[in-house]
Amino acid sequence: MASTMDQLTGVAAITGAGGTGIGAAVAQGFARSGCTRIAITDINPDSLNATKNAILKINPDVEVFLKHGDVADEGFVDSFFDSVFENFSRLDYAVNCAGILGGDMIKAVEMTMDQFDRLNNINYRGSWLCCRAQLRNMLKQEPLPESAVQRGSIVNIASQLGIVARPGAAAYCASKAAIINMTRSNAIDYSDKGIRVNCVCPGVIETPMTSSTPEIVEALRPAIDIAPMKRMGKPDEVANAVLFLCSSKSSFVQGHALVVDGGYTIN
Ligand SMILES: NC(=O)c1ccc[n+]([C@@H]2O[C@H](COP(=O)([O-])OP(=O)(O)OC[C@H]3O[C@@H](n4cnc5c(N)ncnc54)[C@H](O)[C@@H]3O)[C@@H](O)[C@H]2O)c1
Repeated sequence: MASTMDQLTGVAAITGAGGTGIGAAVAQGFARSGCTRIAITDINPDSLNATKNAILKINPDVEVFLKHGDVADEGFVDSFFDSVFENFSRLDYAVNCAGILGGDMIKAVEMTMDQFDRLNNINYRGSWLCCRAQLRNMLKQEPLPESAVQRGSIVNIASQLGIVARPGAAAYCASKAAIINMTRSNAIDYSDKGIRVNCVCPGVIETPMTSSTPEIVEALRPAIDIAPMKRMGKPDEVANAVLFLCSSKSSFVQGHALVVDGGYTIN
């Protein structure tokens, strides 16, 4: 179960938090780590309600702020993070999990512009828009008293495929590599303001993205076998890394791409 060695007493916001994937695990991990003000968003309103219920089951005292929308939509992203800040008067931890595998297993010449644009609009543009809105709001606040040096912490979910390439995934790999380097640049630009920006690069994790059809599971089998640990990771195993990067236990970790992949990228 996702938890952290540090109590996360500030305000958390998580995108892609619906369903049973990484975002939902992160949201529940915050609730287990003492966070009592959690904002969640996803494009799917039903799955978002399910995450709210799961959070309240962990701790009925958590105040959950919830709104569904598209991370590729600038207006939605700006208004969501502004309302989180207005509602809770802070934004301490922001985790950008919304993403799609769209266009996976499609090589460049078979990919349409619509597929390419949708993938990048959600994965890269969406993460960029979210970071911009989160940074703007974090800059308005002073650090929490218990973490004197941390004004805010942002964690983007990239992928092992942002570091290494694999067949049939050029556009997805590029969208995740973009997130890793955007993370580094934002970390450089906002270090002097006390904001840390890091990312987590998951390997193959057992979520609806990777397990929704037998075809996807079959296509991912070679990737699972490359990883020395030879299994899919669990959403909680990624959430634990995210919670560490949000907490002041990682106070000197800046612009890092933390790989959580069972060893895939070392093999
Ligand atoms: N599962 C893996 O093996 C794996 C590996 C590496 C990276 N990742 C990344 O982790 C993140 C989470 O993926 P997951 O595996 O939990 O998948 P998931 O499909 O369970 O979760 C993704 C969530 O994002 C939401 N979403 C999709 N498009 C959206 C949009 N336009 N606006 C807002 N929300 C939107 C979905 O509704 C879903 O709830 C993604 O960025 C994914 O690329 C996953």
